[in-house]
Amino acid sequence: KFDNRVKIVEVGPRDGLQNEKKSISLATKIELIERLAKTGLQTIEAGAFVSPKWVPQMANSSEILQHLLKTPPPSPVPLTFSFLAPNTKGLDSAFSILQQHPKSFETETARSGKSSQEGGKPALEIAVFAAATESFSQKNLNCSIDTSLQRFKDVIQNAKAANLRVRAYISVVLGCPFEGYDVDPHRVATIATDLLEMGADEISLGDTTGMGTAPRTKELLSCLSSAGIRNEDLAMHFHDTYGQALVNTAVALEHGIRTFDSSVGGLGGCPYSPGATGNVATENVVYFMESLGMDTGVDLDRVADIGDWITREIGKANDSVVGKAVLGA
Ligand code: HMG
Ligand code: MG
Repeated sequence: KFDNRVKIVEVGPRDGLQNEKKSISLATKIELIERLAKTGLQTIEAGAFVSPKWVPQMANSSEILQHLLKTPPPSPVPLTFSFLAPNTKGLDSAFSILQQHPKSFETETARSGKSSQEGGKPALEIAVFAAATESFSQKNLNCSIDTSLQRFKDVIQNAKAANLRVRAYISVVLGCPFEGYDVDPHRVATIATDLLEMGADEISLGDTTGMGTAPRTKELLSCLSSAGIRNEDLAMHFHDTYGQALVNTAVALEHGIRTFDSSVGGLGGCPYSPGATGNVATENVVYFMESLGMDTGVDLDRVADIGDWITREIGKANDSVVGKAVLGA
């Protein structure tokens, strides 16, 4: 049976803002998350427990998590907030906040089996992030791929022991800023298999540089399927640097993928990927999905308004063509 439901993971508050040089206030970040919570999006990536020396913009992620637990934003669907953690130090920072508010969030076990209904406590997800090339792993995590996987094993184990959902990114799967197009899809499949065996619930495949093309997206996904990785365990994370994000999205949809990451207003870029522009805009993905008869559950007009607001707020151009068209700008 054809499944027309698509889940969009909004990464704007983390991936979208992490690269901004000017410090963005806590109030603006929280307002962004609260506005996004009203749109029908189910998962919002809200921060990162990484070294503030490496990514200063994410330094107030503890305060964000604290706020979301104390004052959960009203939402039409049950929400999951996702936070990056590259090591157990990051995870322990998240745990120390969760311990202060033990009744303010739902564990995965409590959440599963519930029907989609209004309100309720938010669920928490932890995200680890590997790379498909050694150079990117060194630049982003200061260690080899193997060492990063060793660290993630502990992070995943501890997060799962606390009943939290775990997402695992693999960056630069379709092109690396340092190694070019020379990314081996079989290596991606091996890393994805390792992360799933460690207990990750979902692998998000990041086209960090936007160098992915339709045939190479198809090749990558076929390789993962041949390695026994199920479509329902995968999410695609496209960047629109070369304008190929929606073409690649169509290829992934056709292959059977139903989870896609995007960022409101096309915000973003990875600090360790020179020249990388934004993630594909949420507005563009929602519009595209609707044009194909897919159901995202996301209110396009509301998202377009948020894209307009946040890009003005941080003094950036609105990078969503759909957002601008919807607003008549
Ligand atoms: P390191 O320097 O090798 O770490 O960095 P270390 O263990 O030697 O520690 C150095 C210092 O960092 C120490 O502090 C630690 O306490 C501290 P000091 O003694 O010098 O004062 N530290 C931490 N502080 C806070 N939270 C932590 C933490 N860990 C250590 N969790 C490390 C290694 C992994 C920490 C560093 O490389 C790092 O934080 N990297 C994160 C980089 C990052 O966030 N990149 C962006 C996310 S990935 C991405 O954007 C791509 C993606 O979106 C997909 C796509 O777009 O395609 C996922
Ligand atoms: Mg990204």
